[in-house]
Amino acid sequence: MAATSIVMLMMFCNFIHVCFSVIPTCQPTYPPNELPVYKEDVDLLQFAQNLEFSEAEFFLWGALGYGLDRIAPQQAMGGPPPVGVQKANLDSLTRNIITEFGYEEVGHLRILRETVGGIRRPLLNLSASNFAKLIDEAFGYALRPPFNPYGDSLSYMIASYLIPYMGLVGYVGSNPSLQGYQSKRLLAGLLGVESGQDAVIRMYLYERAEMVVSPYKITVAEFTIRISELRNKLAMCGIKDEGIRVPLALGAERKTKSNVLSANTDSISYSRTPAEILRVLYNSGNERVPGGFFPDGANGKIAKQFLQPR
Ligand SMILES: *[C@@H]1O[C@H](CO)[C@@H](O)[C@H](O)[C@H]1NC(C)=O
Repeated sequence: MAATSIVMLMMFCNFIHVCFSVIPTCQPTYPPNELPVYKEDVDLLQFAQNLEFSEAEFFLWGALGYGLDRIAPQQAMGGPPPVGVQKANLDSLTRNIITEFGYEEVGHLRILRETVGGIRRPLLNLSASNFAKLIDEAFGYALRPPFNPYGDSLSYMIASYLIPYMGLVGYVGSNPSLQGYQSKRLLAGLLGVESGQDAVIRMYLYERAEMVVSPYKITVAEFTIRISELRNKLAMCGIKDEGIRVPLALGAERKTKSNVLSANTDSISYSRTPAEILRVLYNSGNERVPGGFFPDGANGKIAKQFLQPR
């Protein structure tokens, strides 16, 4: 650069009292020799898309009465429409929360697809009878009438307790395996919002912990405890899931029986592997046996590998 240009630049800086050195930096500096997304990151992030699909469809349909095929059909990538999902009978507070959650999942699916390419939307079974089956299993007997997630706001939020938490623990689980800075940035951002959603759902239920879920004689707290116990049983890896009330031994620093957040002895979030998550979401206790919310299994390399005959 010619000396005159430097002088001109200095004069310019002086004149407006702003120079390049004081322009605030808004982008983090990433490690210079790293790739944004490593090949190995792709499978883990695509696995996450399965969970995001189930949440997107459950929330959008529950709040609005329609889902991805109307709002963002390209996200489905030709996958089949969900089975049995429907609009829920929600009050306005609950509907507003769930509408927001649903649109958040649309954003998650978009950024995942932009970052690692999409997977086809898997077949999802979100029918009332499928939720009822899960709840019956959680209690060990058949509720009469069968649990209906779409019947009222409280039932819907109990059913919602089933979903973002699996994303949360799955994201904590994938984090150590990701290498690329863009992959890590994305995962942290997804984890933040999934755990926020889970916290909102838990707080909603916590505020109503002693309420009886009509028409049953069962409290909200009991529902959360039974669902968490079922998930621990299906995942087969000990306690990584806790209801909104716990024995002191599981409370924060063993000092609380209240458990508005589910976390381990150091009060950090539990972590689950893809296999554990599939055992729960397939409701089969076996990552090689699809069922539950994913009658044909989840999509992407990680889930498909479990389905290959050995
Ligand atoms: C959905 O789940 C219900 C209850 O488990 C079951 O009866 C129904 O056959 C399932 N539908 C599909 C398409 O898997």
